[in-house]
Amino acid sequence: MTQKLLITNAAQLITMAGHNDHPAKQEAMSDLEIIENGSVYIEEGKVVAVGTDEEVRADYQDLIGTESHIDATGKVVTPGLIDPHTHLVHAGTRENEYAMRLKGKTYMEIMQAGGGIHATTRATQAASHEQLYEESRKRLDQFLLHGVTTVEAKSGYGLTLEHELKQLEVAKQLDSEHPVDIVSTFMGAHAVPIDEKDNPEPFVNRVIDEMIPEVANKKLATFNDVFCERGVFTPEQSKRILEAGKQHGLIPKVHADEIEPYGGAELAAQVGAISADHLLKASEQGIKDMAEADVVGVLLPGTAFFLMAEFADARRMIDGGVAVALSTDANPGSSPTISLPFIMNLGCLKMGMTPEEVLTATTINAAHAIGAAGEIGSLEPGKKGDVTIFNVPNYLVLSYQYGMNHVDTVIKAGKALVLGGQLQ
Ligand code: NIG
Ligand code: FE
Repeated sequence: MTQKLLITNAAQLITMAGHNDHPAKQEAMSDLEIIENGSVYIEEGKVVAVGTDEEVRADYQDLIGTESHIDATGKVVTPGLIDPHTHLVHAGTRENEYAMRLKGKTYMEIMQAGGGIHATTRATQAASHEQLYEESRKRLDQFLLHGVTTVEAKSGYGLTLEHELKQLEVAKQLDSEHPVDIVSTFMGAHAVPIDEKDNPEPFVNRVIDEMIPEVANKKLATFNDVFCERGVFTPEQSKRILEAGKQHGLIPKVHADEIEPYGGAELAAQVGAISADHLLKASEQGIKDMAEADVVGVLLPGTAFFLMAEFADARRMIDGGVAVALSTDANPGSSPTISLPFIMNLGCLKMGMTPEEVLTATTINAAHAIGAAGEIGSLEPGKKGDVTIFNVPNYLVLSYQYGMNHVDTVIKAGKALVLGGQLQ
């Protein structure tokens, strides 16, 4: 039987149409292509028709009132939200470090003393594939309940070939078994193992000579990411790792200028990265370089919020011509959340973005940040039938009311997985 789904009469149907070739920049980030009283028809997992209720309903009258019909009267319909930067697959939590930070210790001090990323690395190395799968699956369910239909997921808590592969294999299994789609990033260069911190070169060489070829050979990742930060990987080491990834078909991404200005944004432009992420301390020059080289700026305000740091200056980046996307950075150390809607609130309240811009940043621009704008990120004929329906009368309410979940319905490839805010 043909799989069909008709969504009718949304108060606002936010299509995000027209930004498929390039990510939205500057004024285009406010261009949501809203249809009032809008309807969508999805067949066999793909969007077939988008328009006003009058236009669309006429062709699919027979579905009204059946199980294949969702009435969105009084609600806001958007493309399924996309989270383009997560550390989804990991073991355990670090609330002890949170308590230490509240008493004055810094994130980097904790990491340099063997905690931080190293603590999660120990837990992740010790966990079996099945344990990691189970923990990560629960987080994916939470993403779905918060309206997210695609996530990018990084390795980087394995730090040995065996355990990096384990993380990526868990992500691959989740991608095939859980309805939320996963796009994988290899991030072997997330930290230098603690016992090698005074002599990082052999580790850098292992990432380049052992890990990257094997990950690429097994087709376990699309992207290659590096934590380019003082005390972690230098711009020079990061560049070697990213160039090596390119040789094996892995597209560069950079954790850039999170804690201090360190040339990460400049490096992302230089190596042709698809995105540079964090950018709290990005330099003027770095922002200029990113705008010119079309590097998407993935901003992660949950990190500044949780580390009690200064927020990235999204306003300056958007006005300077950088295409901005938003993400949770979901991870146990610097941003333990899966709530992309809360990140939208922070985008507005703490980074100078508008309600329109944060919607663009979590849909079509997020799709561009993971190279998937041909399939997801907007509601247009031919795209995947990924849809989120919010129980709010207009989209302004989404970035106005905070700390609550307005998600009513989530549809993945034409199938309703969340209804009335509940997993089906
Ligand atoms: O994106 N900055 C580096 N990595 C993560 C944090 C990882 C952790 O603390 O476990 C981030 O913030
Ligand atoms: Fe991160």
